[in-house]
Amino acid sequence: MPDLPDLPDLPDLPDATRLALAIPADILALDESQMRRLGYEVVDRVIEHLTTIGQQRALTTGDLDTLTAQLGGPIPQQGSPISGNLTTLADIALANQQHGEHPRYFARVPGPSSYPAILGEWLATGMQSVASSWGGGSGPSTLETIVCAWLRDGMGLAPSCEGVLLSGGSMANITAVITARNFNGPGVIYLSDQTHSSINRGLPAIGQPTEHIRILATDDTFRLNPLDLKTAIETDIENGLHPMLVIATAGTTNTGTVDDLPAIGDICESFKMWLHVDGAYGGPAALCERGRSALPGLDRADSFVTDPHKWLFQPYDIACLFVKTPGALEQTFAMNPEYLKDVSGGAVEMQNRSLELTRRSRAVKLWLTFRSYGLQTLADAINRGIGLAEYAQYLVEQDERLEVITPAALGIVTFAGVNANAADHVRAAAELTEDGYAVVSSTVLKGRTVLRLCTINPSTSTDDIAGTLARLAQFLSRG
Ligand SMILES: Cc1ncc(COP(=O)(O)O)c(C=O)c1O
Repeated sequence: MPDLPDLPDLPDLPDATRLALAIPADILALDESQMRRLGYEVVDRVIEHLTTIGQQRALTTGDLDTLTAQLGGPIPQQGSPISGNLTTLADIALANQQHGEHPRYFARVPGPSSYPAILGEWLATGMQSVASSWGGGSGPSTLETIVCAWLRDGMGLAPSCEGVLLSGGSMANITAVITARNFNGPGVIYLSDQTHSSINRGLPAIGQPTEHIRILATDDTFRLNPLDLKTAIETDIENGLHPMLVIATAGTTNTGTVDDLPAIGDICESFKMWLHVDGAYGGPAALCERGRSALPGLDRADSFVTDPHKWLFQPYDIACLFVKTPGALEQTFAMNPEYLKDVSGGAVEMQNRSLELTRRSRAVKLWLTFRSYGLQTLADAINRGIGLAEYAQYLVEQDERLEVITPAALGIVTFAGVNANAADHVRAAAELTEDGYAVVSSTVLKGRTVLRLCTINPSTSTDDIAGTLARLAQFLSRG
């Protein structure tokens, strides 16, 4: 038994408590020079990664047994040197993943984060940022209201919109649906066959009966047809149902298509329905002039989602949900337990705008990004992404082995091999990934398997696009 600490003033203190108090207060502390050295090691490693990324593989997938053998084992009983552990993390765990910030990562939705945003994330983590209650985090909560207002005004949303930052589009879209249902009551929800799959997954999970979900077929341009929507709503009314919510998309994941928001907005208004717009992917495009003109009617949305971790150069994770009716989020999500009364009731309570209570400040990185670059530079970086997809379309049109399936729209273009079948396309995408040079997605549009590039990384060069298309054309024509 170790020596018990001498606490003469407290003769009745139990031994177990004395033993606990004998544990030194600096048990987890590192000395200052060691902290600095390790911190610099991390910075050096990240800078090396970022400055050589174009020469690295765009995606590496390991196998579970090998990775577990390298990273796992029984729970460590004794500590080991931090420096070596950092190297293991960087060389093994973090090397075996997609690099969404790689200039030739064109699959699904890339994540080209920027250095100021990374610094903001580090700073916020180092200072244990928290944006839950006003009393516990007035600075970070203010930052959150500021970045939401910047985004709202930059994208041209309704001026009354209030925002909250969440982990991603999936959570933000479903939080919007919960808010809409709280306001309009239960009823039928209308979406399209191009609505993001996370919404289809989320609706039943929040108790939406599947018989009250209408998935409408899109037209030849992959848009929700307003006439079909109106007919579906009228039919449901005739059958005694309550049409409650329409979910439109501003930049679909497959093709970058934007639903006809002005027409859909009119329909929602006439039937007193809530219009939610999923701009998780396409929303940030509205910060630049060309994107804004491709996205008319964003101000019609009763709620709107956009993901800065997609097209606004942020590390994961950060999404923003806006709701037009002031106070609607609080009316849906407010809580006031006895143990939070000391810190609640302030100017803004972010803990009352979603289901998250303890939440780090996702606003720090976005604030630093806006302040460091300014809107015009960010708009130019977004515009370059739009242009890169147009350039890819141009190259596809020049290549007789390839054909455009959907033209460049908000940084996405789809195409196919002229004489290639579905399996050829899937194989070509897999071969490219295996090669490590670039990553693209295959997808299925109206039953046809095609290839898809998402070109939102401004550091992508025209050679990167040309090199990727040349390889794909070659793989496809090999048949
Ligand atoms: C249009 C759209 N909505 C929602 C999502 C889901 O976003 P997240 O992956 O951030 O949850 C995505 C993801 O790609 C998307 O493209």
